[in-house]
Amino acid sequence: MFFKTEKHRDLFTERLRLRAPSFLDVNDVFDFCSDPASCKYADWYPHKNKSETREYIAWLKRKAGDKSYTWVIEHREDERVIGTISIVDTDYSGKIFTVGYTLSRFYQHKGYATEALKALIDYLFKELFAERIQAKVIPENEPSCKLLERVGFKKEGTLKKGAFCRTECVDVFIYALVK
Ligand SMILES: CC(C)(COP(=O)(O)OP(=O)(O)OC[C@H]1O[C@@H](n2cnc3c(N)ncnc32)[C@H](O)[C@@H]1OP(=O)(O)O)[C@@H](O)C(=O)NCCC(=O)NCCS
Repeated sequence: MFFKTEKHRDLFTERLRLRAPSFLDVNDVFDFCSDPASCKYADWYPHKNKSETREYIAWLKRKAGDKSYTWVIEHREDERVIGTISIVDTDYSGKIFTVGYTLSRFYQHKGYATEALKALIDYLFKELFAERIQAKVIPENEPSCKLLERVGFKKEGTLKKGAFCRTECVDVFIYALVK
Protein backbone atom coordinates (compact mmCIF):
# COMPACT_ATOMS: atom_id res chain seq x y z
CA MET A 1 0.00 0.00 0.00
CA PHE A 2 1.35 3.43 -0.91
CA PHE A 3 0.95 6.46 1.31
CA LYS A 4 -2.48 8.00 1.45
CA THR A 5 -2.97 11.28 -0.32
CA GLU A 6 -6.32 12.25 1.19
CA LYS A 7 -6.37 14.46 4.23
CA HIS A 8 -6.59 12.95 7.67
CA ARG A 9 -9.53 13.08 10.04
CA ASP A 10 -9.83 14.93 13.34
CA LEU A 11 -8.76 12.94 16.38
CA PHE A 12 -10.44 13.37 19.77
CA THR A 13 -9.22 12.63 23.28
CA GLU A 14 -10.77 13.43 26.64
CA ARG A 15 -9.32 16.98 26.73
CA LEU A 16 -8.12 17.60 23.18
CA ARG A 17 -9.19 17.84 19.58
CA LEU A 18 -6.51 17.31 16.93
CA ARG A 19 -7.66 19.04 13.76
CA ALA A 20 -6.45 20.64 10.55
CA PRO A 21 -4.77 24.04 10.95
CA SER A 22 -6.75 27.13 10.02
CA PHE A 23 -5.70 30.74 9.39
CA LEU A 24 -7.93 31.62 12.36
CA ASP A 25 -5.31 29.90 14.53
CA VAL A 26 -2.66 32.51 13.77
CA ASN A 27 -2.71 34.19 17.19
CA ASP A 28 -2.55 30.96 19.18
CA VAL A 29 0.09 29.40 16.93
CA PHE A 30 2.17 32.58 17.05
CA ASP A 31 2.10 32.46 20.87
CA PHE A 32 4.06 29.22 20.99
CA CYS A 33 5.94 29.43 17.68
CA SER A 34 7.42 32.78 18.72
CA ASP A 35 8.48 31.49 22.13
CA PRO A 36 12.15 30.41 22.09
CA ALA A 37 11.50 28.04 25.00
CA SER A 38 8.73 26.19 23.14
CA CYS A 39 10.86 25.72 20.03
CA LYS A 40 14.26 25.27 21.62
CA TYR A 41 14.86 21.94 19.88
CA ALA A 42 12.82 22.61 16.74
CA ASP A 43 14.45 22.64 13.32
CA TRP A 44 12.99 26.12 12.65
CA TYR A 45 13.62 29.51 14.24
CA PRO A 46 11.06 31.25 16.49
CA HIS A 47 8.59 33.30 14.45
CA LYS A 48 9.34 37.02 14.55
CA ASN A 49 5.85 38.21 13.60
CA LYS A 50 2.39 36.93 12.73
CA SER A 51 2.98 37.06 8.98
CA GLU A 52 5.64 34.38 9.48
CA THR A 53 3.06 32.33 11.37
CA ARG A 54 0.54 32.85 8.57
CA GLU A 55 3.17 31.63 6.08
CA TYR A 56 3.83 28.65 8.31
CA ILE A 57 0.11 27.75 8.39
CA ALA A 58 -0.06 28.16 4.61
CA TRP A 59 2.91 25.80 4.27
CA LEU A 60 1.26 23.23 6.56
CA LYS A 61 -1.85 23.41 4.41
CA ARG A 62 0.11 23.02 1.17
CA LYS A 63 1.85 19.86 2.30
CA ALA A 64 -1.17 18.38 4.07
CA GLY A 65 -2.21 14.97 2.82
CA ASP A 66 1.04 14.21 1.08
CA LYS A 67 3.62 12.18 2.97
CA SER A 68 3.30 14.49 5.91
CA TYR A 69 0.49 16.08 7.87
CA THR A 70 0.18 18.40 10.85
CA TRP A 71 -2.76 18.62 13.22
CA VAL A 72 -3.11 21.53 15.58
CA ILE A 73 -3.80 20.47 19.16
CA GLU A 74 -6.89 22.30 20.37
CA HIS A 75 -7.78 22.37 24.03
CA ARG A 76 -11.44 21.35 24.05
CA GLU A 77 -12.42 23.36 27.10
CA ASP A 78 -11.07 26.79 26.13
CA GLU A 79 -10.75 26.08 22.37
CA ARG A 80 -7.19 27.41 22.33
CA VAL A 81 -4.62 25.88 20.04
CA ILE A 82 -1.87 24.74 22.39
CA GLY A 83 0.48 22.91 20.04
CA THR A 84 0.95 20.82 16.96
CA ILE A 85 1.49 17.14 16.28
CA SER A 86 2.67 15.79 12.96
CA ILE A 87 3.35 12.94 10.68
CA VAL A 88 6.71 14.37 9.69
CA ASP A 89 7.30 11.77 7.02
CA THR A 90 5.90 8.53 5.64
CA ASP A 91 8.08 6.02 3.80
CA TYR A 92 7.18 4.87 0.28
CA SER A 93 5.29 1.80 1.55
CA GLY A 94 3.01 3.86 3.78
CA LYS A 95 3.80 1.65 6.78
CA ILE A 96 6.63 3.54 8.46
CA PHE A 97 5.75 6.91 9.99
CA THR A 98 7.99 9.52 11.59
CA VAL A 99 6.21 11.75 14.09
CA GLY A 100 6.93 15.08 15.80
CA TYR A 101 5.19 17.50 18.18
CA THR A 102 5.41 20.90 19.89
CA LEU A 103 3.43 22.10 22.89
CA SER A 104 3.04 25.64 24.21
CA ARG A 105 5.22 26.14 27.26
CA PHE A 106 2.14 27.12 29.27
CA TYR A 107 0.47 23.78 28.62
CA GLN A 108 3.45 21.53 29.30
CA HIS A 109 3.69 19.13 32.25
CA LYS A 110 -0.04 18.50 32.22
CA GLY A 111 -0.10 15.31 30.17
CA TYR A 112 -1.44 16.90 26.97
CA ALA A 113 1.43 15.73 24.76
CA THR A 114 1.04 12.19 26.09
CA GLU A 115 -2.68 12.33 25.37
CA ALA A 116 -2.18 13.67 21.83
CA LEU A 117 0.60 11.24 20.97
CA LYS A 118 -1.40 8.24 22.20
CA ALA A 119 -4.30 9.30 19.95
CA LEU A 120 -1.98 9.62 16.96
CA ILE A 121 -0.39 6.23 17.65
CA ASP A 122 -3.81 4.61 17.87
CA TYR A 123 -4.87 6.21 14.59
CA LEU A 124 -1.67 5.22 12.79
CA PHE A 125 -1.79 1.58 13.90
CA LYS A 126 -5.55 1.01 13.62
CA GLU A 127 -6.57 3.12 10.64
CA LEU A 128 -3.42 3.60 8.58
CA PHE A 129 -2.01 0.12 9.32
CA ALA A 130 1.36 1.39 10.47
CA GLU A 131 3.98 -1.23 11.22
CA ARG A 132 6.50 1.17 12.69
CA ILE A 133 6.22 4.64 14.22
CA GLN A 134 9.48 6.44 14.86
CA ALA A 135 10.79 9.74 16.19
CA LYS A 136 14.15 11.46 16.08
CA VAL A 137 15.18 13.39 19.18
CA ILE A 138 18.14 15.60 19.98
CA PRO A 139 19.78 13.84 22.96
CA GLU A 140 19.53 16.93 25.22
CA ASN A 141 15.75 17.03 24.74
CA GLU A 142 14.91 15.11 27.87
CA PRO A 143 11.15 15.97 27.95
CA SER A 144 10.76 14.53 24.46
CA CYS A 145 12.69 11.34 25.35
CA LYS A 146 10.54 10.95 28.47
CA LEU A 147 7.35 11.47 26.48
CA LEU A 148 8.29 8.80 23.94
CA GLU A 149 9.29 6.32 26.64
CA ARG A 150 6.06 7.04 28.54
CA VAL A 151 3.95 5.91 25.59
CA GLY A 152 6.06 2.83 24.88
CA PHE A 153 8.70 3.88 22.35
CA LYS A 154 12.08 2.15 22.65
CA LYS A 155 15.37 3.92 22.02
CA GLU A 156 17.18 2.01 19.27
CA GLY A 157 20.38 4.03 19.10
CA THR A 158 21.95 7.16 17.70
CA LEU A 159 21.77 8.29 14.09
CA LYS A 160 24.98 10.15 13.36
CA LYS A 161 24.06 13.43 11.66
CA GLY A 162 20.56 11.98 11.43
CA ALA A 163 18.61 15.25 11.31
CA PHE A 164 19.09 18.69 9.86
CA CYS A 165 18.58 21.28 12.59
CA ARG A 166 18.53 24.92 11.50
CA THR A 167 22.08 25.17 10.16
CA GLU A 168 23.67 21.74 10.40
CA CYS A 169 23.16 18.01 10.54
CA VAL A 170 23.14 16.80 14.14
CA ASP A 171 23.27 13.45 15.91
CA VAL A 172 19.86 12.26 17.13
CA PHE A 173 18.41 9.41 19.13
CA ILE A 174 16.08 7.21 17.11
CA TYR A 175 13.03 5.94 19.00
CA ALA A 176 10.47 3.48 17.64
CA LEU A 177 7.24 1.73 18.44
CA VAL A 178 6.73 -1.40 16.37
CA LYS A 179 3.45 -3.23 15.78
C1 LIG B 1 8.31 17.39 24.12
C2 LIG B 1 7.12 18.04 24.81
C3 LIG B 1 5.89 18.01 23.91
C4 LIG B 1 6.82 17.24 26.09
O1 LIG B 1 5.84 17.94 26.83
P1 LIG B 1 5.48 17.50 28.32
O2 LIG B 1 4.66 18.59 28.89
O3 LIG B 1 6.72 17.10 29.04
O4 LIG B 1 4.63 16.18 28.10
P2 LIG B 1 3.13 15.92 28.58
O5 LIG B 1 2.25 16.98 28.09
O6 LIG B 1 2.79 14.55 28.17
O7 LIG B 1 3.23 16.03 30.15
C5 LIG B 1 3.86 15.00 30.90
C6 LIG B 1 4.15 15.51 32.29
O8 LIG B 1 2.96 16.04 32.86
C7 LIG B 1 2.68 15.38 34.10
N1 LIG B 1 1.21 15.40 34.25
C8 LIG B 1 0.54 16.33 34.97
N2 LIG B 1 -0.77 16.13 34.87
C9 LIG B 1 -0.95 15.05 34.09
C10 LIG B 1 -2.10 14.37 33.60
N3 LIG B 1 -3.35 14.77 33.92
N4 LIG B 1 -1.93 13.29 32.79
C11 LIG B 1 -0.70 12.89 32.46
N5 LIG B 1 0.44 13.51 32.88
C12 LIG B 1 0.31 14.59 33.69
C13 LIG B 1 3.33 14.03 33.96
O9 LIG B 1 3.61 13.45 35.20
C14 LIG B 1 4.60 14.39 33.22
O10 LIG B 1 5.53 14.97 34.11
P3 LIG B 1 7.09 14.61 34.05
O11 LIG B 1 7.61 15.06 32.69
O12 LIG B 1 7.68 15.38 35.16
O13 LIG B 1 7.20 13.12 34.20
C15 LIG B 1 7.44 19.51 25.22
O14 LIG B 1 8.57 19.51 26.06
C16 LIG B 1 7.70 20.43 24.03
O15 LIG B 1 6.79 20.85 23.34
N6 LIG B 1 8.96 20.77 23.81
C17 LIG B 1 9.33 21.70 22.75
C18 LIG B 1 9.18 21.10 21.35
C19 LIG B 1 9.97 19.83 21.19
O16 LIG B 1 11.05 19.70 21.74
N7 LIG B 1 9.41 18.90 20.42
C20 LIG B 1 10.02 17.58 20.21
C21 LIG B 1 11.03 17.59 19.13
S1 LIG B 1 11.68 15.92 18.97
